[in-house]
Amino acid sequence: TGHDIVLNNDVLIPQVGLGVFQTPGGQTTIDAVHAALECGYRHVDTASIYGNEQSVGEAVKTSGVPREDVFITTKLWNEDIRKHRTMEAFEESLERLGTDYVDLYLIHWPAEGWQDAWGALQEIYRSGRARAIGVSNFAKNHLDELLANTDVKPAVDQIESSPTFPNQDMIDYCHGHGIGVEAWSPLGGTGSGLLKDDRLLEIGEKYGKSSAQVVIRWHLQRGVIVLPKSVHNTRIQQNINVFDFELDDEDMHKISAMDTGKRNGADPNNFDF
Ligand code: A2P
Repeated sequence: TGHDIVLNNDVLIPQVGLGVFQTPGGQTTIDAVHAALECGYRHVDTASIYGNEQSVGEAVKTSGVPREDVFITTKLWNEDIRKHRTMEAFEESLERLGTDYVDLYLIHWPAEGWQDAWGALQEIYRSGRARAIGVSNFAKNHLDELLANTDVKPAVDQIESSPTFPNQDMIDYCHGHGIGVEAWSPLGGTGSGLLKDDRLLEIGEKYGKSSAQVVIRWHLQRGVIVLPKSVHNTRIQQNINVFDFELDDEDMHKISAMDTGKRNGADPNNFDF
């Protein structure tokens, strides 16, 4: 069902992962993760701030899929960065996930103190408790500073990207530096109405695919790791059924041309949480 990308430390990551931002912890998360694993996902992207790590861990455990076959990402929250409690926060995440390692650990936002946090992530990486480490919502200025001062290159930068905000300069910048890119809000996020856009629906008709599948395919063909969120089984299935068609160049350009220059989420250089 899927396809892997090779990270810069040779670790493989499935190119489509289940996103669980805004998926309520408890049965909703457990059901979504079970549905995903059943239809072939082997990658779940959570964060301590999402409040569902425990449910993600429980779902993986009860799924019958071996832990080592599932790529699990979680993230260090801003308050923990500011309080210089990265190690403690990491251990709390492992505890909630019920695992002794994660596949990828990310700094969630470049909050004050992120340089110290990155030092701790490198220690975590060396200890083998994270198979890869990276960042999220880092802009060029943050990455430039990080790259000039690190022994371990971040494996990924997880950033906002969707047809209305492709963020293509950041993607090109990361890829140019050997850093993988993961897209959050890949379908435009909750309530954007993006998936009802006529341009996407029309392209979908041509391939016999939904607008969501078209958008996911556009991310894949740009070399981006994509983390669509859904709590509905049929949509979860749909979102990974994207490896049997290919968008032509014209359609790729049409989707990229939907760029409005406007973010859905916060600006990495100006956020207040
Ligand atoms: P739901 O969870 O109710 O299915 P993003 O991944 O960009 O954050 O977007 C997720 C939003 O898109 C959620 O509101 C999700 O709602 C919805 N969504 C996810 N997959 C599909 C799909 N295949 N078709 C329609 N809506 C979808």
